[in-house]
Amino acid sequence: MQASFWHEKWDAQQIGFHLDAVNPLLVKYWPQLNLEPSSRVFVPLCGKTLDMCFLAEQGHEVLGCELNELAVQQFYQENNLPVTLETIGEHQRFATEQVTIYQGDIFTLCADKIPAVTAFYDRAALIAWPEEMRQAYAKQLAKLIPANSIGLLITLDYPQAELNGPPFAVSDDWINANLSDDFEIECLASEDVLADNPRFVKKQVSWLTESVYKLTRKA
Ligand SMILES: C[S@@+](CC[C@H](N)C(=O)[O-])C[C@H]1O[C@@H](n2cnc3c(N)ncnc32)[C@H](O)[C@@H]1O
Repeated sequence: MQASFWHEKWDAQQIGFHLDAVNPLLVKYWPQLNLEPSSRVFVPLCGKTLDMCFLAEQGHEVLGCELNELAVQQFYQENNLPVTLETIGEHQRFATEQVTIYQGDIFTLCADKIPAVTAFYDRAALIAWPEEMRQAYAKQLAKLIPANSIGLLITLDYPQAELNGPPFAVSDDWINANLSDDFEIECLASEDVLADNPRFVKKQVSWLTESVYKLTRKA
């Protein structure tokens, strides 16, 4: 999607993707990654997700990237976190004790300008991109993630012809065809979630699955 699409959504607070609680799949599957609490976790396209608070509570240092400034301000305000602000190249760096967010375009973020991470968490980031931009995003993510980093990826799949994204449908076949050059891929779970998603039910989407993958950045 173009940047203007997301800025308009945040301006209008049309942020149906934002959850008022920590994502249950993160709570359930994060322990399976067996990460040290000291691992630094990258959260691409982070919005103002409370999942960053969960990750910080596990002891992790969290490093997010988010395009929209209001989203970042709301994250720190709504969680009562004091914040410092610095300009780093094309990004504004918002920071509190355990959560730093680089506000700006993920495509202009450089691995050598940010602290090295050893883990990552992608929820509603890969699936935020239409198919023609998805591969470029996946390549940029791979560039920002050092070898052997381990991450959790959460995707949705449904018949794309029945509903426009975002979120866009990302199939298991797409994941294996497009991510396997850069990542070892293990599917941890795949569930029918149609009944839990009234927007999809209302639009008569015939099926909807949510999948959780463990990804390991190849050397
Ligand atoms: C579907 S939302 C998901 C947010 C978050 N991961 C969550 O689970 O609530 C996608 C987010 O990506 C941000 N975004 C879109 N394009 C971006 C880009 N090029 N660089 C950084 N963030 C971007 C949007 O502003 C939006 O907040």
